[in-house]
Amino acid sequence: MNQKEQAYDTLFRQVKALVGDETDRIANMANVAALIHESFGFWWTGFYRVEDRQLVLGPFQGPLACTRIPFGKGVCGTAWQQAQTIVVPDVELFPGHIACSSESRSEIVVPMFRGETVYAVLDIDSRELNTFDSTDREWLEKIVALI
Ligand code: SME
Repeated sequence: MNQKEQAYDTLFRQVKALVGDETDRIANMANVAALIHESFGFWWTGFYRVEDRQLVLGPFQGPLACTRIPFGKGVCGTAWQQAQTIVVPDVELFPGHIACSSESRSEIVVPMFRGETVYAVLDIDSRELNTFDSTDREWLEKIVALI
């Protein structure tokens, strides 16, 4: 395992222990956002929940963010629409990217499923280009499945 994989392995165990039998998803999202954010020092780490055909801001760590994102809009709305993780190495090259913060340079959005349906997304922003790759995608998909 490389350093990043080791950090994710530790994080996965922490989240598993923390979430445990807790069934309140908002509480779990709040702690998972804090754990991911602290572990890697990302710029923004948080959740958007599907409510009335929009994404509505949920628990997060970092500077204030857009409150609502329409279906298919921005990276978050596109990950929801496509029901798959999107890795954006350079946000300026993603058509329709929603700039909540001008500091954000790269991003990953991971959809979360209840059955086949997306009920939320995890969004992580970095101040550096090319922060996220397939290692982040694989581990973050495993981590959000614990929620
Ligand atoms: N950049 C996101 C919007 C959310 S904020 O970055 C927290 C997007 O394009 O969906």
